[in-house]
Amino acid sequence: MAYSMNPLNPSFDSADSPQDQTQAQIQAVPDRFAPADTDPFAARPLADYLMEVCRDDGRHAVFLNTVSLLEHLGSRKIMVSQSGPAMGAATLQHLAEETRHAWFFRRAAEKAGGSPMGYLPGQILSAPAAAMYLGRLDAAITRQVGRRPPADAPAGFVPLAYLYVSSIVEVRATWFFHLYQDILLKSGAALNLKGVIAEEIGHLEDLTATLAVQDPLYPQRFEEFKHLEARLFRRFLPQLLDQTERR
Ligand SMILES: [Fe+2]
Repeated sequence: MAYSMNPLNPSFDSADSPQDQTQAQIQAVPDRFAPADTDPFAARPLADYLMEVCRDDGRHAVFLNTVSLLEHLGSRKIMVSQSGPAMGAATLQHLAEETRHAWFFRRAAEKAGGSPMGYLPGQILSAPAAAMYLGRLDAAITRQVGRRPPADAPAGFVPLAYLYVSSIVEVRATWFFHLYQDILLKSGAALNLKGVIAEEIGHLEDLTATLAVQDPLYPQRFEEFKHLEARLFRRFLPQLLDQTERR
């Protein structure tokens, strides 16, 4: 079965065999969207963990549901922070796609677990470290660029804090989904993240195109914030894996 290239159609329902999926081209991440820290030491423990989780349907269901929750929280944050008269089409699209990613991963979780799920204790990983990581990133970026648009901002100006926090989180999300996709293929899982990856790269293209127009300091700040994120992620990942082990 041919794989749909339509980025609006994540391919969970695809009947592709793992071999077909291996052949399908996962969209490459442009260099400028790579995290600041691409040292394999960051990826290795996570890759080992994912490989283990993919072998156990129950644990995989909980992991997928946790990814669903993170997507849901991301979409809710967009809804709460960006809803208003100035909301543009790109933000509406971003919101719709993040909401659909939450549903996509929930559906995958329920398929792996074999029963309906919510975001209840026991159905998600307990990860306060994730909230800390996101909160620190948000606070540090917002401190530097301000939460509100400048008084002389033109109509349609999108707050820089939203653009930077979203794009930096998408950088890590895209890196993570690539790693996860690789493990899914190696473990023979039917789940395919190609559509999700294409959409996250699309968000990055949109967010950074707007940043390039709105912020003369964009190139330096984007690099600086990627380094900030990499430092926070290095602290966050061992905490997350440690909590996971102690569940
Ligand atoms: Fe997403």
